[in-house]
Formats: sequence, C-alpha cells, structure tokens
Amino acid sequence: MENEILLSVRGVSSRYISRPYGVFGRKIVKPVLFDISLEIRRGEILGLLGPSGCGKSTLGKCILGLVDYEGEILIGGLDRRLEGRKRRGKLFMAKKVQAVFQNPAASLNPVKRIGTILEEPLLIHKTGTRAERLRRIDRMLSLVGLDPSYKKRRPHELSGGQKQRICIASALMLNPSLLVSDEAVSALDVSVAAQILGLFRELRENLEAAGGESLTMLFISHNLNAVYYLCDRIAVMKEGRIVESGDTEELYRDPQHPYTRALFGVWG
Ligand SMILES: Nc1ncnc2c1ncn2[C@@H]1O[C@H](COP(=O)(O)OP(=O)(O)OP(=O)(O)O)[C@@H](O)[C@H]1O
Ligand SMILES: [Mg+2]
Repeated sequence: MENEILLSVRGVSSRYISRPYGVFGRKIVKPVLFDISLEIRRGEILGLLGPSGCGKSTLGKCILGLVDYEGEILIGGLDRRLEGRKRRGKLFMAKKVQAVFQNPAASLNPVKRIGTILEEPLLIHKTGTRAERLRRIDRMLSLVGLDPSYKKRRPHELSGGQKQRICIASALMLNPSLLVSDEAVSALDVSVAAQILGLFRELRENLEAAGGESLTMLFISHNLNAVYYLCDRIAVMKEGRIVESGDTEELYRDPQHPYTRALFGVWG
C-alpha cells in the first residue's frame, strides 16, 4: 500500500487552440506540454518547479481534467479520460482529485456561509445524512486549525490565511486521493504562507489518523523554499518539458540541469 503509485502521467502533451479573430479567423495552436511523464506514490508530495509560463498550471489542469491532452493519465490505476466520459465517471474522478488554487478569495462564494460552502461538495456527491455532514464539517475545520464556530461566518469575515484554510478543508471534504495545489501559498504573505505549509505537513500525519487517505499531493510552485520545505521529491520543468527530477535532498545537493543549478544558486 505504502509504495503504490497513485498518479501516473505518461507521455502527456497538450496545446491550446484559440481563434483570436472570431469563428472564421485563423486558428492559433500553441503547444505547451511536450511528452511529460511523472509519477507520485501514495502519501508522497511531489513539488513541480519551473519558471513562469513553462506549463506547470497546464499540467495541473490536465490532471484535474480541465484541459485536453494526448497521452495517458492514470489515477489509482484508472484512466482519467475514460472515467471522465460520463457524468458518473466525472463525479467519481472529481471525488478522487481535488485542487487548491492561488487566490482563496476568488475560490469562495462571498454570499455563502462557510458551513454551506463546506457542505456543498457532500451534497453534490450525495454523501451522508445532514447530521453526518455537519460532523464532517466540524472535523475538517478543526483539522485545518479553525474553530467549528467559523462555519457561521462569511468569507469576507476571514483573513487571507483563514480563507486558504477553508479552501483546503473544502478540497478535503470528500476525502480525495490526490490534491493538486497550484501556487496555494504564493498570494499569502510570508508568515501566513509558512503557516499554510506547516498545515500541509500536519495534515500528512493527521489525515490518516482521522480515518482519511494519507495526503498525496502535487505541489506546484515557483517558490524554491516552499518546495524544499514541503516536498519529498521535486520535478523541474522548463518550456513544457521535465528537465530534471529526483529526491529533494539529492536534487538540492547535486543539481544536474543548468536551469536547476541556476535555481539552486550553484554555478559552474
Ligand atoms: N487558456 C489558454 N489559452 C491559450 N494559451 C494559454 C492558456 N492558458 C495558458 N496559456 C499559455 O500556456 C503557457 C503555459 O501556461 P501555464 O499557465 O501552464 O504556465 P505556468 O507554468 O503555470 O506559469 P506561472 O508560474 O506564471 O503560473 C503560457 O505561455 C500561457 O500563456
Ligand atoms: Mg501557473
């Protein structure tokens, strides 16, 4: 169970097609990902580093099923695309993979109370009775370090860090196998970002103890320190390709690719 491969990305390529001059205008095809392969084992946190525009978010979106791709993405041995064809398959995959994004304020509906926001995924997936759902909300709130009384508040009554905690709780409500975090701490100020990173670390231990799946995560970031602090392994991306990957310590000690060397400040 421990070393089982949870996410397997095999030879994935992706491109964006746009028509900037209307439906009869010329198609513009922009290739973004080229033959990407990577794996994440259950319980592991993989950091995805790379310069702005190299395709990190696009890869995250492929894994979340938001963007078309060529190649294969397996989650828990199941093909993301095949499962995604029917509505039930889509719901099934949505339960397995959840995401946390950069701007927590934009991710939360401002007119709804936190309790309603957190209950929503359970309602969509028709999970549990009302009492069970309320119990789960309280449990997730305390797991992300917030008092259960927060469920009566609205998003504007929370700080940025607290909002991000709610987004994380919301992503974890359905007990997903994989969490994709796309720049989840990049918009937060340094001390709050450190708290959220600490929370991810705590969740690793506490989620399993609370009867959930262990935290497996793709942690997309351009923040070297955050990735170094949190991740077991790192994959470095440049211009749509993975140029280097390995254990965090190993990569830090002996980076091979010129970009990684520059990133870690090792020259020559
Ligand atoms: N919907 C879209 N249509 C067309 N091009 C897009 C679209 N989304 C992204 N791109 C382009 O694809 C490339 C990769 O974008 P992506 O968002 O994956 O980069 P990123 O590595 O996440 O960058 P950042 O670190 O700034 O978030 C960029 O050149 C971007 O301009
Ligand atoms: Mg991005």
